[in-house]
Amino acid sequence: MDSILVTGGKPLRGEIAIAGAKNAALTLMPATLLSDEPLTLTNTPRLSDIKTMTALLQSLGAEVSALADGKVMAMSSHGLNSTRADYEIVRKMRASNLVLGPLLAREGHAIVSLPGGCAIGARPMDIHIAAFEAMGAIIDLKDGYLHATTQGGLKGGVVKLRFASVGATENVLMAATLAKGTTIIENAAREPEIVDLATCLRAMGAQIEGDGTSRIEIQGVDRLHGATHPVVTDRIELGTYMLAPVIAGGEVECLGGKLSLVESFVEKLTEAGITVEETDRGLKVRCDGGRPKAVNVTTEPFPGFPTDLQAQMMAMLCFAEGTSVLEEKIFENRFMHAPELIRMGAKIDVHGGTATVHGVEKMKGAPVMATDLRASVSLILAGLAAEGETQVNRVYHLDRGYEHVEEKLGAVGAQIERIKGQ
Ligand code: EPU
Repeated sequence: MDSILVTGGKPLRGEIAIAGAKNAALTLMPATLLSDEPLTLTNTPRLSDIKTMTALLQSLGAEVSALADGKVMAMSSHGLNSTRADYEIVRKMRASNLVLGPLLAREGHAIVSLPGGCAIGARPMDIHIAAFEAMGAIIDLKDGYLHATTQGGLKGGVVKLRFASVGATENVLMAATLAKGTTIIENAAREPEIVDLATCLRAMGAQIEGDGTSRIEIQGVDRLHGATHPVVTDRIELGTYMLAPVIAGGEVECLGGKLSLVESFVEKLTEAGITVEETDRGLKVRCDGGRPKAVNVTTEPFPGFPTDLQAQMMAMLCFAEGTSVLEEKIFENRFMHAPELIRMGAKIDVHGGTATVHGVEKMKGAPVMATDLRASVSLILAGLAAEGETQVNRVYHLDRGYEHVEEKLGAVGAQIERIKGQ
């Protein structure tokens, strides 16, 4: 397995182009199942999770081709021949459950493996199941698979989510485009990836209003047609690279970045004394050498501080002046990076969902183990400022969500290389 070797102490200067959002692409790709006409996505990120979704869609009979070096995905579901999402693929990636809504809507039935837990938490599917039942689906669990059927198709109605789940909102939004009548999603998630999905579905002929608010109204239509849609900028990759010059020093402009995607995050950077400037090309972050100030952070659904930037923020706060308190409210087990950062000299106490970070002036490189995607990149960020070498092992997690991390950071002056596994 590959590892990433970072030698700390090099200030960063230059530009980093931010890719299309992994979490938007992973819900836009299953949207192809809703129509028998082609759907083309541009600005697709080149990631292993995209390959996994490609394999899943192909296993259902969809045609999926990566064009333009993987930045364009051309898809067509006219020859759909299966409604079963197999455990062998679903276990690799939870977002596989996003085929359930489109399959139910188009075919009236689907068999989708339950994904099981993962490193960051149990991640059940009860909210998705309750929502589809409210739309008239009958769902049974057999042999680890959800067997979902409908009598004459899904029906609109009021679907109130007990929590503003991103995946459940996406699944119901897709399904409701072809359901009979009007569906109202109450307590819907408001993430930019949901607005991006709704924009794509509208381009396919869907009737949707209210995306980006907690009440989405969808008027079902008989069929959707083909479309071409650009994937929204990845706000998590954006936030990750915005933290790099804060930790390593220097100035980096993140091309394609927009303040509206990362407002709550930028508020915390500003509170920590960091200058963020919106330019006509993206977001520029400057750190003139001093240490950032400690800040307290609580993760929340959008527009709150994203859980997917919590690990990276912790890496920065390890070097801050003072004590910060990080509260993780979305996932029950998302501090796996803390013990690895401690191996590098960080001072962190974790109690349940709260981590107290006592900032230190220096950290030292060490071999560390990546436990999940965002944890992996937080260790690379810490390595940028740690003395000596940090070797981040098990980087397959990283490749799920960050394209060419060593090239992007290397181009702005970081000393970073990939060591190929045996
Ligand atoms: N939850 C339930 N029941 C459900 C669904 C969710 O209890 O039926 C719980 C989860 O266990 C979790 C919380 O609700 O504790 C939030 O889950 P949500 O459904 O909102 O998350 P998701 O759709 O599974 C997406 C992203 C995650 C991101 C979360 C939160 C994708 C493919 N994944 O997951 O991204 O952390 O929203 O913003 O969109 C990542 O990219 O590193 C990542 C984990």
